[in-house]
Amino acid sequence: MNLPSRVLITEVGPRDGLQNEKQPVSTDVKVELCERLLGAGVRQLEATSFVSPKWVPQMADAAEVMARLPRPAGVTVSVLTPNMKGFEAALAAGADEVVIFAAASEAFSMRNINCSIAESIERFRPVAQAAKSHRLRLRAAVSVAFGCPYQGEVPVAAVVDVAMRLRDLGCDEIGIADTIGVGTAAQVGRVFDAVAREVPLDRLSGHFHDTYGQAVANVVASLQSGVFRFDSSIAGLGGCPYAKGATGNVATEDVVYLLHGLGIETGLDLDRLVDTGQWISAQLGRRSVSRAGNALAARRQREAETT
Ligand code: HMG
Ligand code: MG
Repeated sequence: MNLPSRVLITEVGPRDGLQNEKQPVSTDVKVELCERLLGAGVRQLEATSFVSPKWVPQMADAAEVMARLPRPAGVTVSVLTPNMKGFEAALAAGADEVVIFAAASEAFSMRNINCSIAESIERFRPVAQAAKSHRLRLRAAVSVAFGCPYQGEVPVAAVVDVAMRLRDLGCDEIGIADTIGVGTAAQVGRVFDAVAREVPLDRLSGHFHDTYGQAVANVVASLQSGVFRFDSSIAGLGGCPYAKGATGNVATEDVVYLLHGLGIETGLDLDRLVDTGQWISAQLGRRSVSRAGNALAARRQREAETT
């Protein structure tokens, strides 16, 4: 297998991870989560979303989170911006990167951002232009690229089509997202191979939710297709409020355990990620869903008891 020597991970726990929490999570906890992640070596941090608080109340404190976030040199802080209102707020908050998010199915586009795919691209156009003129990095997500909760199957051609439209807006990176975590390894290979004919591989990333337990396998399948950028979420937190039943993103601890096992550098400190995953799970009052995180924490506990 021809694998990259280094993989770039964007930690999306504070955003994708927390956006779906039913109970309000305090701004203090959000900020401490970001601090701990930065302490574990995270260099691409998706911190929050500048979306409508009526649609996603959990992200209503986006400006405060950004204001209190430590900003060490070399860290790219990104935020979601569905429209110009979100962009203006992101700019004022000092974001380094803005993320626009489209869908590969019309039904999901309507539910998530209340407009058609074509309308969303027109809404993103001024955001993309403003990002370029302010020299912010521009990232995009293509949701439901491997299956849609409303439409079911999503043709590969629909994913390629949206990815091309986002490429034409000048996106520096386009994340191909399995919003509901249904994709399988062979499908991931097919989708990335098709998209990579239109968008250079170094501009693509994989964003996998783990509903069907396929996310780590899907990371491997992506690596085999030449993808070397991934989003992941500490402790496997997450889910989209507009994708009912979908569970969290692939856990950062699991991805890092996989990659380090393959001899691939991430720049991340697995021990500190494990601590952070256990800490945020305790804050939320439940057990982490990271298999590697829980196994490593249990091993540590056993070792502490026997010494
Ligand atoms: P709309 O209702 O059509 O928009 O929503 P609107 O322009 O009519 O505005 C409605 C109200 O929202 C107005 O307030 C606006 O000011 C306000 P009112 O006048 O009623 O008081 N508003 C905003 N407030 C703050 N920030 C903004 C903003 N925009 C409008 N940016 C809209 C359209 C796009 C705004 C809405 O649908 C929305 O916010 N959607 C976001 C949904 C969301 O955050 N989903 C989760 C993130 S995407 C995801 O998780 C997928 C991903 O992880 C990849 C994957 O896994 O697939 C990225
Ligand atoms: Mg997501």
